[in-house]
Amino acid sequence: MGRLDGKICLVTACTRGIGRAIADLFIDEGATVWYAVRNLVTGQAAVDAANARCGEERAKLVYFEAHEPETHRSMINKCLEVEGRLDVLVNNFGESNPRKDLDIMRCTWNEFEKTVCCDLSTVFNACQEALNKAMIPQQSGSIINIGSVAAVCPDKTQVGYGVAKQGINHLTKQMARQVAHAGVRVNVLNPGIIATEAVAQHLTPETQARYTTNCMIKRLGDPIDIAYMALYLASDESKYVTSHVMNVSGGWL
Ligand SMILES: NC(=O)c1ccc[n+]([C@@H]2O[C@H](COP(=O)([O-])OP(=O)(O)OC[C@H]3O[C@@H](n4cnc5c(N)ncnc54)[C@H](OP(=O)(O)O)[C@@H]3O)[C@@H](O)[C@H]2O)c1
Repeated sequence: MGRLDGKICLVTACTRGIGRAIADLFIDEGATVWYAVRNLVTGQAAVDAANARCGEERAKLVYFEAHEPETHRSMINKCLEVEGRLDVLVNNFGESNPRKDLDIMRCTWNEFEKTVCCDLSTVFNACQEALNKAMIPQQSGSIINIGSVAAVCPDKTQVGYGVAKQGINHLTKQMARQVAHAGVRVNVLNPGIIATEAVAQHLTPETQARYTTNCMIKRLGDPIDIAYMALYLASDESKYVTSHVMNVSGGWL
């Protein structure tokens, strides 16, 4: 028996990295998972691999492009058309361009606005659609937003990213308070530095080594470390947990 048997879940941005680890673990634990992705080729490959592993057709594909706001809602509606319900929404997407999202002295307003707006709008729009169309009417649901320790620990750069992720923390708490009466829980996971392609591309080996040195558990995180915490929040084991900001950072901070 899986810990998510029968649950309908949707995970954004899950062709690789943290999102992929979450979606795949949810499949392994018995859920039906909608992989919400912008690249339908790599997305289909992820879905095919998941279905081959579970021997069923529980992994499904839906289009989601963070820069096309209508898809924040259409992905939810596609899932609802087929499944009739949505139990777990994981807003995993998040981005910032470290070459442009600089410190306050050098970041342009346009870049700041773009980063904050894109990272917050995906969460706002997807949550609003999921709450109004599924979770409040069905009187149950768990929303898991993926933030970052950058929300709670000011960075030397990436002014937009830190503000966006802190915005996600507070939006999560606001929503938790506003929908608890309907049996819906909303929490946020703040990863530390996790060994994904984003980190390999954007963080120098020196930065990674400094993190490892300052972290209580002396290694970078692995996407599965985040996925296990997401599994807990998705499952009924966490039914008394809401409005929580959980750092999964190996004790860094
Ligand atoms: N890795 C870390 O150390 C770390 C730390 C703190 C927080 N986080 C947060 O964790 C989340 C996942 O990060 P990650 O490191 O796993 O990222 P990643 O390995 O770079 O994966 C990024 C995922 O996002 C998708 N994506 C990129 N741009 C997109 C867009 N415009 N629309 C839709 N999908 C898009 C990619 O799809 P394609 O395959 O199509 O490119 C891919 O599936 C983010 O919210 C990030 O801020 C990560």
